[in-house]
Amino acid sequence: MKKERKILKDKSILLGVTGGVAAYKSVDLIRRLREEGSSVTVIMTDAAKYFATSLSLEVASQNKVYSDLFSYPMAHINLPADADIMVIAPATANIIGKLANGIADNLLSTCFLSFRGKTVIAPSMNWRMYENPIFQENLRHLLSHGVVQVGPEKGSLACGEEGTGRMADIPDIIESIKASLSKKDLLNEKILITAGPTREYLDPVRFISNRSSGRMGYAIARAALRRGARVTLISGNSSLERPTGANFISVDTSADMLNAVNNEMDSSTVLIMSAAVSDFMPVKKSTNKIEKSGNLFLRLKLTPDIISGVGKKRTRPFIIGFAAESGERIKRAKKKLKEKNMDMIIFNNVTETGSGFDTDTNRVVIIDRKKETKLPLMSKNSVADAILDRLTEIRA
Ligand code: C5P
Repeated sequence: MKKERKILKDKSILLGVTGGVAAYKSVDLIRRLREEGSSVTVIMTDAAKYFATSLSLEVASQNKVYSDLFSYPMAHINLPADADIMVIAPATANIIGKLANGIADNLLSTCFLSFRGKTVIAPSMNWRMYENPIFQENLRHLLSHGVVQVGPEKGSLACGEEGTGRMADIPDIIESIKASLSKKDLLNEKILITAGPTREYLDPVRFISNRSSGRMGYAIARAALRRGARVTLISGNSSLERPTGANFISVDTSADMLNAVNNEMDSSTVLIMSAAVSDFMPVKKSTNKIEKSGNLFLRLKLTPDIISGVGKKRTRPFIIGFAAESGERIKRAKKKLKEKNMDMIIFNNVTETGSGFDTDTNRVVIIDRKKETKLPLMSKNSVADAILDRLTEIRA
């Protein structure tokens, strides 16, 4: 298997834990970061010790936990020097106020000042504190210096109130760390991605659809967002979590998808059609539920081919399509590339184990007007990055 692109592999993360109720979640954050191959060194503030124990963070990180500025006189220089990224989760109003104003009165704030890389903060506090204009001013100031904010979420807070202030979910924090460590080579692109299946209705309750889960398209959306693109994701029915930061448009039928693509196309630089658009739809949709009165014969007609429609436009985005084939029919995919006037087509054999629908992996061949790149079986996340790599090469 080709080397997977694991952004967090072998990364050294300096994690600041400050005194918010969400501090107990740091154990889970550390565990997930370590699972992705990172090493984590924790700095706790004194207030954090009321909410999580140093021992639990030490066990989770399998590393020494630092706290006191004066016990290790060089820690405020050495710890940041060894780190690829600093993360502060939870980040209280207090630490954000200090960092925004250059105060260095504890180990964490001192490390922040001496650190030269990116810092991600996950604010966590009562909604009144979060909305306080003084806090907001501090936050804006800090962000204007390149610090990255993730969350907070709206929801029920530990104090029993509802509002914005709950620390971002761990997967969102991880995604934000990955984005901060990624190269930003798609800053100038506005990418329109379609994903998932469409449903074609026989009557108000029955439809024909397919096995697409949306995984490939969602993986491309996440990878593109990390790399700095603006992303619109048009998705058919899918149980997957919506990628944070994408403009999300939910659709049902191929007609809905066609409309959504037409509405978004002019403002997009790239169209990636990874959706498994239904090829057929019932000739007629019954307005009432069809009665069960014997065998039923369906008459189906072709759905409008969305990608071909875009390919025919005089000014059009760069078009990437998918060819999910049963069998090694690369020739057919190449023919499709030309016929539909695409710029790139991603071929995959859906009958092969580990490839195609409802799996986390895929084996694809990237075919464009100049070359053919055969990739080994890889995670869909790595396939997404490989497709975007080729896109950037072609558009350089
Ligand atoms: O011809 P085929 O359906 O195999 O082409 C697949 C490509 O065409 C995919 O990128 C798919 O999203 C797109 N497609 C489309 N409109 C359809 C059917 C497929 O844009 N009605």
